[in-house]
Amino acid sequence: MKIVVFNGKGGVGKSTIAANLAVISASPLLDADPQATCCYWADRRGSNSPEVVDVSLGRVAIRLKALERAIVDLPGASVPGVHDALSVADVVLVPVVYDQATLDALPATLELARNAHRPTTMLLNRLHPRAHADGIVTSLAPLNVPICLTPVRERASHRDWWSQGLVAADFPDTDAGGDILQIWQWLQTQNYA
Ligand SMILES: Nc1ncnc2c1ncn2[C@@H]1O[C@H](COP(=O)(O)OP(=O)(O)O)[C@@H](O)[C@H]1O
Ligand SMILES: [Mg+2]
Repeated sequence: MKIVVFNGKGGVGKSTIAANLAVISASPLLDADPQATCCYWADRRGSNSPEVVDVSLGRVAIRLKALERAIVDLPGASVPGVHDALSVADVVLVPVVYDQATLDALPATLELARNAHRPTTMLLNRLHPRAHADGIVTSLAPLNVPICLTPVRERASHRDWWSQGLVAADFPDTDAGGDILQIWQWLQTQNYA
């Protein structure tokens, strides 16, 4: 499966989710963000699994087309190259933090995804561990974009592991890792590829 993780807003968890999905699915991770967040993470990881490829935004669509499966981390901006990358995705995954600034920017992100004519799904990130996702899912329904019913919860462990070159998916038996495992299992049921 080729999953392109995108939101025109920064700080919503694109890199965190992309790296987690690359680990849980044992897929190559294409880092097309000039900030190279996943490349720095891979440097700390000290392992070739997953393979993390430093790729320019201008070339990522071509690289992705040639692969059977991959996870792509894009920059948090609507810049040239994003459209082409979205256009070759099996699914565009849009992390959404439920705060006003992210919600204000969301229609622009979803418009870019719509223009790519690829299946798109939102994924709630940083949801409070005890918050109910149902109400939020309902409030996002008018956007008319599918949403994964399993959210990624706010957990400090995501930040701690990241600084060590690890991710929650390296620990699927933990609460944080369990979120990722469930999301990956759900994605596989969606017949995107
Ligand atoms: N579910 C989460 N729980 C706690 N911290 C998170 C979570 N998701 C992301 N973060 C933290 O939020 C910050 C931004 O995440 P990042 O993945 O870099 O976002 P983006 O790639 O969209 O800019 C990072 O410090 C990251 O560790
Ligand atoms: Mg990032």
